[in-house]
Amino acid sequence: MTTRFRAAQLSLAAFAAVLACAPLVWAQVSSTPPTQTVFEPGEPVEQPLPYSHKLHVGLGLKCRECHTIPDPGDFATYPPESKCATCHVAVKTDSPHIQTLMAAAEAGKPIEWNRVYQVPEYVYFSHAVHVIDAEFECAECHGDVGSREVLFQEKPISMYSCMGCHTRHDAPNDCELCHDTH
Ligand code: HEC
Ligand code: HEC
Ligand code: HEC
Ligand code: HEC
Ligand code: HEC
Repeated sequence: MTTRFRAAQLSLAAFAAVLACAPLVWAQVSSTPPTQTVFEPGEPVEQPLPYSHKLHVGLGLKCRECHTIPDPGDFATYPPESKCATCHVAVKTDSPHIQTLMAAAEAGKPIEWNRVYQVPEYVYFSHAVHVIDAEFECAECHGDVGSREVLFQEKPISMYSCMGCHTRHDAPNDCELCHDTH
């Protein structure tokens, strides 16, 4: 509760700053219909270890087995290194990458993965609402992750794309839905 409250205050401050500093942006945002941006997929995101979704999803591992969505459900988590260790205590232990991974698991020090998808702090997004309540597949917003060696941003997460999908699915598009200014 406290964390959520502080997060809300933070997002309010950040959002207010955006509005104060960028009246031109504001004017453009409020007057541009949600269909006009052209999305370019991102570059492959370099990671500290050569982790491959293609290989690991190919072994039969499920998305939410590694990316749990704990209450209140805003975030999808990254897997703890102990999860990786269930196999890598024995698999490919001669690899320097796996030695780094196992050292991290033993030290309880998480690998610092680089972000692929991230919305600014003043935007409210919930995985639980989209994945559990509305039953969208991960691929809807993240593309065909299971066939990628290296991830890149292959789907847009801009305001335009959020609002476009909300329109298509009769979900609301009030500003306060995604920008909690209370
Ligand atoms: C179900 C078992 C399993 C789990 C769980 C698992 N892996 Fe793997 N991993 C494998 C197998 C099998 C390979 C391929 C080994 C080979 O090439 O001989 C592999 C290969 C790798 C490689 C490539 C190593 C190299 O040098 O070629 C990396 C890096 C890796 N895994 C990281 C991870 C991370 C990080 C996690 C946890 C998020 C994880 N793995 C969880 C089974 C697993
Ligand atoms: C064995 C554990 C494991 C499984 C299974 C797994 N992932 Fe991941 N996922 C990871 C790790 C480790 C990272 C961080 C490294 C990277 O980005 O490649 C990650 C990163 C991601 C990211 C990028 C998050 C960001 O930074 O924005 C997305 C999106 C994602 N996974 C979606 C999926 C989907 C969809 C599936 C099922 C098709 C899946 N993952 C299956 C371990 C897993
Ligand atoms: C409706 C679109 C949508 C769907 C469906 C969706 N995601 Fe995401 N995902 C996002 C957005 C937007 C972000 C950036 C959120 C942020 O910055 O907090 C994100 C971020 C992530 C992250 C980084 C950690 C985080 O929560 O910020 C992971 C991991 C991830 N998604 C995995 C998944 C997996 C696995 C699924 C399916 C079970 C999934 N996502 C379904 C839109 C979606
Ligand atoms: C694939 C379609 C789709 C995309 C993309 C999408 N949404 Fe949604 N969103 C929905 C639907 C459908 C609902 C209504 C879900 C329900 O009420 O069960 C919803 C509901 C919401 C809610 C209401 C949550 C609540 O507590 O009731 C918020 C906030 C939200 N979305 C934010 C976002 C943001 C921010 C983005 C972009 C980063 C986004 N959505 C992208 C389909 C989408
Ligand atoms: C469905 C979710 C959603 C709704 C509804 C929404 N926004 Fe946004 N908004 C976002 C996301 C996501 C971003 C950050 C990504 C981006 O800039 O496209 C954003 C960014 C912004 C920005 C910063 C733009 C920039 O370039 O820095 C402004 C200003 C803004 N929104 C105003 C509004 C106003 C005004 C409304 C009501 C008409 C509104 N938003 C409704 C999701 C939403």
